[in-house]
Amino acid sequence: MPTPQLKIEAQPRAHAIVLILRVVDPAKNGAQAARALARIPSLAEQVAAVDTSSGLVCVVGFGADFWKIISPAKRPAALTPFKPRRAGERVAPASGGDLMFHINSDRADLNFELALRVRDLLGPLAEVMEEARSLNYLDGRDLTGFIDGTENPQGAERAAAALVGDEDPDFAGGAYVFIQRYIHDLARWRSLPIGEQEKIIGRRKSDSAELAGGEQPPTAHISRVSIEEDGRELQIVRYGFPCGTTSDAGLFFIAYARNPGIPEKMLDRMIGQGADAPHDRLLEFTRAVFGATFFAPSIETLRALTS
Ligand code: HEM
Repeated sequence: MPTPQLKIEAQPRAHAIVLILRVVDPAKNGAQAARALARIPSLAEQVAAVDTSSGLVCVVGFGADFWKIISPAKRPAALTPFKPRRAGERVAPASGGDLMFHINSDRADLNFELALRVRDLLGPLAEVMEEARSLNYLDGRDLTGFIDGTENPQGAERAAAALVGDEDPDFAGGAYVFIQRYIHDLARWRSLPIGEQEKIIGRRKSDSAELAGGEQPPTAHISRVSIEEDGRELQIVRYGFPCGTTSDAGLFFIAYARNPGIPEKMLDRMIGQGADAPHDRLLEFTRAVFGATFFAPSIETLRALTS
């Protein structure tokens, strides 16, 4: 199997930055921008050398439209732009984006240094569309106060859920990256009694224990995103983190998937398409403001694309 950019079996390090860029005039600058990216691995190595225990990595992903420009003949089979959604008050906007950089390590300062060098590398060839820095909130909790990540796949299950395999051999070892940024209405959320919040998430707030079947309504977040097909649970590997400011704080949702149809199906069930389909009540307290899909190829494919 070609080498994945991310050591997917390891747990995420403490701090993250995600940068999403738009290439300026991609038809003209696309090839030059792609060639510049060949320097990312050596930039990451230089910054990582400051503290080798920090585990610094920078995953590079490409949006569908940009991929078409730099490699029209050979494309990951399931790479399409993020599809916007709306049902009632619930929205999932599509924002686009040509390049994604997911930087992760135990040192927020090294992440920032690497993000600065990535910007510098691309200079006027690209503009920032979205930049999110992780806030570490309590003991691994989302700003709703609930523990995030409890049911994330562990060990070997992580590679099986996130990495493309034989189904698309040219792109084996790569992963689809599904991104949304949410802003929570924290004042309204915090005014709810804890019992009500627990029914909305489907888990106990103190320790993330799942509510018993009868107590877990179909509108609970985990009821909407737990999907079984052919007796197996559909899985993705989540790396989300709280982010924002005191005016607009929420969750930066970023997940790696072998098949981008899986997070899309989860999102469809959250939004609740169709007249009497239940929707995720969490979406009454949080709003998606950004959405995009990328493909993070294997290291070997990244090298070929950027040479
Ligand atoms: C504001 C946005 C969101 C918040 C605050 C949120 C929060 C949570 C929390 C607290 C849990 C329970 C603990 C855990 O297993 O991690 C959870 C589970 C989960 N979430 Fe979300 N989430 C959000 C958006 C999403 C989206 C957009 C997706 C997929 C597209 C998603 C997929 C999942 C999955 C697959 C689980 C595990 C379910 C299980 O098997 O129990 N979440 N989320």
